[in-house]
Amino acid sequence: MKILSIETSCDDTGISIIEATGGINNASFKVLANNVSSQIDIHIPYGGVFPALAKREHEKNLPLVLEKTLKEATAKAGQAKLKQKNGINSNPGIDAITVTHGPGLEITLWTGIVFAKELAQKWNVPLVPVNHMEGHMLSVFGKGKGSFKIPKIKTPVMALLVSGGHTELVLVKKWMDYKIIGQTLDDAVGEAFDKAARMLNLPYPGGPQISKLAEEERKNLGSQIFSLPRPMLYTKNFDFSFSGLKTAALYLVRDLQKENPNILQDEKIKAQIALEFENAAIECLVYKTKKAIEKYKIKTLIVAGGVSANKYLKSEMEKATVATAGQAGKNVKLYFPPKELTGDNSLMIGMAGYINYIKNKKKVPKIDSIKATGNLRL
Ligand code: KG4
Ligand code: ZN
Repeated sequence: MKILSIETSCDDTGISIIEATGGINNASFKVLANNVSSQIDIHIPYGGVFPALAKREHEKNLPLVLEKTLKEATAKAGQAKLKQKNGINSNPGIDAITVTHGPGLEITLWTGIVFAKELAQKWNVPLVPVNHMEGHMLSVFGKGKGSFKIPKIKTPVMALLVSGGHTELVLVKKWMDYKIIGQTLDDAVGEAFDKAARMLNLPYPGGPQISKLAEEERKNLGSQIFSLPRPMLYTKNFDFSFSGLKTAALYLVRDLQKENPNILQDEKIKAQIALEFENAAIECLVYKTKKAIEKYKIKTLIVAGGVSANKYLKSEMEKATVATAGQAGKNVKLYFPPKELTGDNSLMIGMAGYINYIKNKKKVPKIDSIKATGNLRL
């Protein structure tokens, strides 16, 4: 079946069309078109996402991205039925629509939902609401183009979901059946990266900026100048906390500025702070994940969400999941998303939507009952 998917949970307007086949344990996908329109440039002057502006941009972008996506998918599908006959009002061969209904910014989620509802009614197709975090989880099996399938994976499975709004360790009993075993008690790790970047006068979104500085500085192999805390590292549970780390970075910058108001013009100092911040944040993520792997005897680890683009996180997780001497064959299979799907995209919403749809035996909620839920849980 051909699925059109819509994602507007934050500042990316995503629309894609995939062809999905197979059952819950052997689902296969072919990408017919996948587009994301980023609003980063518009939000840079505000140092973060400005919700009312994001809403306006989504409303402006959705019809444009839809038109582009339909054109591309029609060209790709060739003979295979996907045709745009009489403009947007006639169904071009879509069998279902999926849309993110949370978590995220309610005001922007609504733009996608309202748009999706209109299309679903016009085209007379089911509308499947999808949890954004479930999308991130499945993104590790996707690709930005071509074909792919969800492989059979060894259980028990755990997911570390790390984004601008979430930091959670999730036991995956089966697809669509989850238990959160640990989460942040305050800031999400991506949010902490973004705030630390702001302290260093780096532009939004700060995560990639901090990690770029840190990566270069790590290569220098010099001694580290600063030391920041690793909050909750040794607590018995699997929860995280990043607000203390953020505050410690803030105090460090403030104290340095007392000595020298122009300290942030010193690129070396900035890179050293970025390096220590990244080391501290990633150590917290990896240490707790490793402990959970041991406790739950995890065989498959999924790491997903915007922060999964962090190269240091990936290399540290690779080390943590490789068997040590004497434990041959005990490797944990590790999945990260491909680079093009680490950030917000609608392809992952299509994948999760399809799995939901077949798991629920093609039953979907009444269209009027679908609404945006900012703090939607897994
Ligand atoms: O999943 P995502 O695109 O949006 C949300 O659902 O929140 O995640 C965005 C977050 C931002 O906080 C961004 O700074 C962070 O992911 N991020 C990174 C990196 N790339 C993106 N954080 C650390 N290192 C990166 N390379
Ligand atoms: Zn996200």
